Amino acid sequence: MFDWCEGYERLATVVEATLELAGEGRENLARSGREDITRVLDVGCGTSTLAASLWASCRRRVHAVDVDPAVIEAMRESHAGCDGLTWEVVDLTAAGDALGQGVFDVAIDKGTLDFLICSGIRPVLDALASVRRSLREDGVLLVVSIHPLGLWQALFAALAASAPALGFDELASWSLEAQSADSARTGIDEATVRKNPTSALALRRRSQEEADSLEVDRVSSDQLFAAAEAAAGAALDKHFAVEAPLLTPRREASLRADFAAALAAAGEGVTRLAASEAHRVLFPSSAEQAEYPLDLFLEDLTAQERSATSSSGGISLSLAEAIDFLTLNQ
Ligand SMILES: C[S@@+](CC[C@H](N)C(=O)[O-])C[C@H]1O[C@@H](n2cnc3c(N)ncnc32)[C@H](O)[C@@H]1O
Repeated sequence: MFDWCEGYERLATVVEATLELAGEGRENLARSGREDITRVLDVGCGTSTLAASLWASCRRRVHAVDVDPAVIEAMRESHAGCDGLTWEVVDLTAAGDALGQGVFDVAIDKGTLDFLICSGIRPVLDALASVRRSLREDGVLLVVSIHPLGLWQALFAALAASAPALGFDELASWSLEAQSADSARTGIDEATVRKNPTSALALRRRSQEEADSLEVDRVSSDQLFAAAEAAAGAALDKHFAVEAPLLTPRREASLRADFAAALAAAGEGVTRLAASEAHRVLFPSSAEQAEYPLDLFLEDLTAQERSATSSSGGISLSLAEAIDFLTLNQ
């Protein structure tokens, strides 16, 4: 068993809130004339405990899919006899209508979009299109990710604007501070885990009526995908360039210049910046400072021994130490 980002225990409140947003156990399920059982899709289940934990309350039918036949076989075997918990091999990027239409109340993705986005926007859009179709109108998608919330918010906002028929509207978001204990389970080093709290975003599937009212059927789905791909691509580029920048050669040159200017301003012959000043230079935007505040920076510097401590106890960094720190922690 392996769980990406979080096990069920720490996610339970987020998942319960999402089920509530989808109207679990409430009038709207009754109104639709169905039995009071929520149908949940686990999007790329892996060997996570999520599907079985969701099913265990008996109020839910859970259908878990994954592209990996060995994973599905193993999960099916180890959960044999669990009535209402089903497993299926599905490639979400080429699923078409394989998941059915309007079948699920809630779809939960934990880490599969994280995986797919490594190969670009298109696989993410393909998967989202099948998941969207499989959800009932106004059904809810929960995305749980190691990436910052801003990344998914930018992507879904771009999608909603450029391709309403693929669109989801944000309902709620959560940011779960990562715990160092999780690093053993995820295999990601502790500094990275601490820097990247798990984000969770609940979104509502737009109804067909809304999509139709936006006359999206006048454009072909290829045109729609091209527009969505371009808009989501631009949103992600902006995210990585402005809000969570990577240490590109251009950014390194500009940081070097800013660091040198701050040293010069501190006085002649000064070669080190106090950690608080270095933090301001290295993470200049308010978004970066909110995502990676000074106290975490100090903790990481201490843990990684990448700074010097003066006799007065203050931590400081040279330019070389600062660049080393960014290279290792980006
Ligand atoms: C990062 S793991 C997350 C697994 C699980 N949801 C969890 O929380 O631990 C990504 C999962 O997505 C599955 N996956 C990757 N590409 C897929 C695709 N095209 N269709 C369906 N599943 C896919 C992988 O097999 C893997 O189990």
